[in-house]
Amino acid sequence: ALLVEQFGGETPENATKWGSVQPDPETWDFSAADSMLELAQEYDLRMKGHTLVWHSQLPSWVSESMSAEELSLAMETHFAEILPHFGSSVEDWDVVNEALEWNGAMRESIFYSKFGSAYVQDAFALAAKYAPHARLFYNDYSIEGINSKSDATAKLLEEIQKAGVPVHGVGLQMHLTHGNAPSREDISANIQRFGDLGLLVHISEMDVQIRHLQGPETDRFLAQAMTYYDVTAACVENSACEQLTFWGYTDRYSWIDSWFGEDDPLLYDEDLLPKAARDAVHQAL
Ligand code: XIL
Repeated sequence: ALLVEQFGGETPENATKWGSVQPDPETWDFSAADSMLELAQEYDLRMKGHTLVWHSQLPSWVSESMSAEELSLAMETHFAEILPHFGSSVEDWDVVNEALEWNGAMRESIFYSKFGSAYVQDAFALAAKYAPHARLFYNDYSIEGINSKSDATAKLLEEIQKAGVPVHGVGLQMHLTHGNAPSREDISANIQRFGDLGLLVHISEMDVQIRHLQGPETDRFLAQAMTYYDVTAACVENSACEQLTFWGYTDRYSWIDSWFGEDDPLLYDEDLLPKAARDAVHQAL
């Protein structure tokens, strides 16, 4: 009820990843993703597909032992199945996720080792072939402010544009830690530079870690709310920034707990009650 009342869209956290939908070359499982799609259709939510090409959460049969030809065929088969499965009901796709290192170099991944950096552009071309209606996104972390990695992202996306291959937007994941996040001005300038390239910007996976903060919960939640406010305001003040998505909505279920440590990174507490962060987002909007 909370999801459909308070939010306008959803991104499957895991259900449309390669390892989830195609555990074996011949086995397709869209059950979890289809139930999210049903919810989206019933309540008129946008749904964003996440993610077609990523070094992580691949099925075990996609491995370094494959030849470049085999991997290329596997990629095309994967795109040819998953994109038409959702068709025009999923208007946005994260095509390539996390292709870069912190310093802007290409990340060592199975895709990079088999194809070199050309795979990024090839993935966008392939997505356009099987989802001609869709808007295609590049998505990454630590590209929220202006730094070597976001500079490299802008360069990578410009090269794709110059080659005449469709790329419509960039997702800034925005997994932040309070006190260690880029400023509103920095995020805003970064959003603007992607906008100047004609790209849409999505804040695609926001959460804010606070477990290192001392003091009473109210104070810690207020500090967190300020970070949520700044990011939302940076999005609102740039016309290129179209969408703000959180990586979950209740502190009861967050990937942060198991990946980084017990935390309360989201907008609603474990009992689904709104936190200061939720009010801060509303205010900034
Ligand atoms: C995370 C999920 O939230 C976890 O449940 C899963 O175990 C690992 O992946 N960047 C991304 C997301 O693009 O797909 C990741 O999601 C979080 C970091």
